Amino acid sequence: MKFFIDTANLDDIREAHDLGVLDGVTTNPSLMAKEGIKGQENVIAHYKAICDIVENNVSAEVISTDFEGMIREGLELAKIDDKIVVKIPMIRDGVKALKYLTNEGIRTNCTLVFSPGQALLAAKAGASYVSPFIGRLDDISTDGLELIAQIVHIYQNYGFGTEVLAASIRHTMHLIQCAEIGADVVTCPLNVITSLLNHPLTDQGLEKFLADHKKANS
Ligand code: E4P
Repeated sequence: MKFFIDTANLDDIREAHDLGVLDGVTTNPSLMAKEGIKGQENVIAHYKAICDIVENNVSAEVISTDFEGMIREGLELAKIDDKIVVKIPMIRDGVKALKYLTNEGIRTNCTLVFSPGQALLAAKAGASYVSPFIGRLDDISTDGLELIAQIVHIYQNYGFGTEVLAASIRHTMHLIQCAEIGADVVTCPLNVITSLLNHPLTDQGLEKFLADHKKANS
């Protein structure tokens, strides 16, 4: 299972990378705006900075919603670095753009996926990754994890090469349940990754080991 961090914050990306378990980064226009990144030059420079930190898989999202615009932006983003994966929204022109960019040998991530039918279309169009949003479905009282299970099942039925990238992950149980279901990738904020470290018995156990060691050596 791959771990991606869902942020445009360079400190968080460095911290996750330093932990040694990071496989990539996903961003979106909201996350870029949160870091105050605006203007084409700054956006490109920021993606370059992210690519300098991680080994692979930096999802950069297009802003256009028409086919020509998405292709133009997608080609520009792909030029930044081989690590870039062009993120395309699940809309009619987006499906066409996924197909076009895939044929050009550019990796793609189909975002804003909320149904198995949308995931099927993304796979048919050749997307490298499909991003179903768990948390946002949970927010409207719909089981986001059930969607992940449906997509994993459908892709297995037909041997689609598209990887299931579980997105909009809010807490560790989302992540662990995605692992149980068999999602290929999870993308989440830094705190979800670091929270996996936590267990009170680990803390208590370590405290006791160190105390016993100190006693024996004093
Ligand atoms: C990932 O690609 C999405 O941008 C992200 O996971 C959305 O998460 P949110 O619902 O917490 O904004």
